[in-house]
Amino acid sequence: MSVQKEVKIHPYLYNNEWKSSDTGNTVQIISPDDGSVVGEVPAMSQDEVNRAVDKTADVQENWAATDGHERSGLLHKWAEELEKMTDEIGEMIHLEVGKTLSASKSEVKRTAQLIRHTAEEGLRTHGSFIQGDAFPGASKQTKAMVQKVPHGVVLAISPFNYPVNLAASKIAPALITGNTVVFKPATQGAISGLLMIKALVNAGLPEGVVNVVTGRGSVIGDLIVTHPKVNMITFTGGTATGQHIAKKASMIPVVLELGGKDPAIVLEDADLDKAAKEIVSGSLSYSGQRCTAIKRVMVIDKVADELVEKIKANIAKLKVGKSTEDVDITPMIDQKSADYVISLIDDAVEKGATIVTKGIVDGNLLGPTLLDNVTEDMRIAWEEQFGPVLPIMRVSNELEAIDLEKRNEYGLQASIFTKNLEGAFIIADRLDVGTVQVNGKTSRGPDHFPFLGVKNSGQGVQGIGRSIDSMLRDKVLVLNL
Ligand code: NAP
Ligand code: G3H
Repeated sequence: MSVQKEVKIHPYLYNNEWKSSDTGNTVQIISPDDGSVVGEVPAMSQDEVNRAVDKTADVQENWAATDGHERSGLLHKWAEELEKMTDEIGEMIHLEVGKTLSASKSEVKRTAQLIRHTAEEGLRTHGSFIQGDAFPGASKQTKAMVQKVPHGVVLAISPFNYPVNLAASKIAPALITGNTVVFKPATQGAISGLLMIKALVNAGLPEGVVNVVTGRGSVIGDLIVTHPKVNMITFTGGTATGQHIAKKASMIPVVLELGGKDPAIVLEDADLDKAAKEIVSGSLSYSGQRCTAIKRVMVIDKVADELVEKIKANIAKLKVGKSTEDVDITPMIDQKSADYVISLIDDAVEKGATIVTKGIVDGNLLGPTLLDNVTEDMRIAWEEQFGPVLPIMRVSNELEAIDLEKRNEYGLQASIFTKNLEGAFIIADRLDVGTVQVNGKTSRGPDHFPFLGVKNSGQGVQGIGRSIDSMLRDKVLVLNL
């Protein structure tokens, strides 16, 4: 007799109460590993969403009136509570988004560190004082006090691939600066997000300061983004969704961290062993489902054969399997994403790319594929694969690489591998990206570094200090003495 596993509905948080939707509607979260239902979250109705935003707005003034050190204390406590829940939350990240258990637990620990750093850094925000006499006609007696004040209600929308870290990296800076928060987690990852908020409630979150809205972004997204009581939006996710949000939201600040097509540029004098190692971990960790993954390699012809061999050897060491196993490459988030990656590989092969390593295809589990001789007419040269396939583009010199990168619609990060640091600086100056990594893979951390994308990779800047800045606006008080 088969035993039916009970599927749990995970309630949303409203005014520190855990609630189900009055409609009884839910959204299922499907395991990327085996297609089973991990759990359900409420599909909140329009009324419930509106009520959540209203409550968040009602308590904002009181929250902003608390002392900074109190808010900092709450964040420190949150980090503590989060760490206590590392196993529980790690297990849920693993089930919901198909990361290995150890990677999932690392995400929780990284998040606790990020919250602590935010709690410290947030205490150091300050305004400025300006005297009038620098401008003709004004006197020393005219003085401006420029204060830093919160926006009000911040809407934080997070993606599936870091359901805890990329949510807390928005919520913590919003709270420390006196904003209240409406948190919309990605559906895939929503339970992990709710558990993270449970840690915040355990830490002593005052009522109404954070409210969570659950449901499909395609259904409730426009409602929250255009809600008149939302004063600022901070979003991480796909470029199409980000652009949609930017068009919908009007007259409020919007910070967007979006997709990427990060190149690794490998020059003739590079340490090829190091480059190959960095490129493989940079492109294929979490099966390439990272905005900052290396998504195309541009290598100088002369060293291309050698580099490709070394990359191939590193890829051969990777283990492929379910996220329950101790592996490097796990199933993609869903079948649609896997089908997309396969379509990019097929297109490239049809147009003449060479398959150096052929990845297995087992439903949404794709082994790593290494493609050589990728050319500009192939979709994979330009489109964000967000999966375990690495295209190699051979170039005759660095100017060709710079030109290719200049035509990239994305501009998140780029890596340059070379022993000539001066040369690396010159190339870096010419790349339209948020960050250039020299002799290292593209990646977001350390989390207090500024993190940003240009072109279709985003607007505004994150990273602990800059995220805090983004949560504040100037308010000027002029003394006319
Ligand atoms: P996504 O599909 O754009 O979803 C991101 C978030 O937006 C989810 O919470 C989603 O909710 C929500 N959403 C969907 N439609 C919406 C709408 N109309 N209005 C408001 N919210 C809406 O992205 P994803 O699949 O989670 O993540 C993959 C993409 O994110 C990749 O392109 C990747 O490069 C990018 N990414 C970028 C960064 C970065 O820092 N630059 C970091 C991580 C990921 P539902 O889940 O309910 O649909
Ligand atoms: O997916 C986008 C994340 O911001 C990447 O973070 O470089 O630490 O993996 P990461």
